[in-house]
Amino acid sequence: MSGNELRGEVTPYSMYANRRWFMKAVGAAGVLAASGGVYRWFNPVRKMELDTVAIEGLVSTELSEDQRRSLGYLVDEPRTSESDIISYNNFYEFTTDKNAVAEASRNFKTEGWQIRVEGLVHKPTTFTISDLKSLGPIEERIYRMRCVEAWSMVIPWAGLQLSHLLDAVQPMNGAKYVAFETLYDPERMPGQRTDVLEWPYVEGLRLDEAMHPLTLLALGLYGKELPAQDGAPVRLVIPWKYGFKGIKSIVKISLLASEPPCSWKRYAPTEYGFLANVNPNVPHPRWSQATEQRIGESGRRPTLMFNGYEAQVASLYDGIDLSVNF
Ligand code: MTE
Repeated sequence: MSGNELRGEVTPYSMYANRRWFMKAVGAAGVLAASGGVYRWFNPVRKMELDTVAIEGLVSTELSEDQRRSLGYLVDEPRTSESDIISYNNFYEFTTDKNAVAEASRNFKTEGWQIRVEGLVHKPTTFTISDLKSLGPIEERIYRMRCVEAWSMVIPWAGLQLSHLLDAVQPMNGAKYVAFETLYDPERMPGQRTDVLEWPYVEGLRLDEAMHPLTLLALGLYGKELPAQDGAPVRLVIPWKYGFKGIKSIVKISLLASEPPCSWKRYAPTEYGFLANVNPNVPHPRWSQATEQRIGESGRRPTLMFNGYEAQVASLYDGIDLSVNF
């Protein structure tokens, strides 16, 4: 959702795919070495694997596969390759170029990370990452991810149900919303020296959405520690909402009585709502949301109501007109 995309360009993936196609074609012709300059110009995308370590504390769940499927914890669709997940990203704190986030965030260090949880809670607490891992099981959740720009992935996350963290701080009766904040540190996040967004990146959920068992604080993917480009060391994942709700590199969580600001809603309130539920029936003002481009697939597939999590979450929105509350 760079400035260009906000002004109507919704084809970033096709550019990406074309570059990859070009790379394959050139590779097949065996002229890659001879055309380094051309290769770099057309194809900044590198084939990548995570070189980070296996995530500590990942437990195998006691639930059966059928139970996980019916809870929405496991999607029976091919997983997007690790290489695609970690080389095609939105993370404006580093760059607005999706193909360059991995490189731009390569040296981002997260040692000593802390998350402050405060506001309308009985037990305001500062957590380290290992504290988070002690609040509940770190489980694998294989979720669909649907970006508002109409591309999608299937990602095997490893994380902690957000409800376990919220239970630990004991929300007060008046708490109705949960606000999230990304680190603000323009030294380490050079994109914050630009005014492409108002910093820090902020997001919010209703408390009942935050307590839903599908809502995850992700600490890893593909069984490994979360890489910087995907929001290290901890990011939010709400699989039935557009990807922009999945705020990365979180340092603060506050429980509030009223609706908190959200970065994209603040930027363009007629285009991005607070709920941001995936909904194929409500087009973005400048493009359809009826179909999506699954990364790694050719052709488009229909977008599902609530991104395919209707059975699990539709009741959260009973009585709400989702074409008005988008
Ligand atoms: N969080 C922060 N702090 N900054 C961002 O720019 N981009 C959002 C979301 N979280 C973003 C963010 C958007 S638009 C999307 S689609 C997802 O992260 C992308 O997550 P991914 O790169 O892991 O696929």
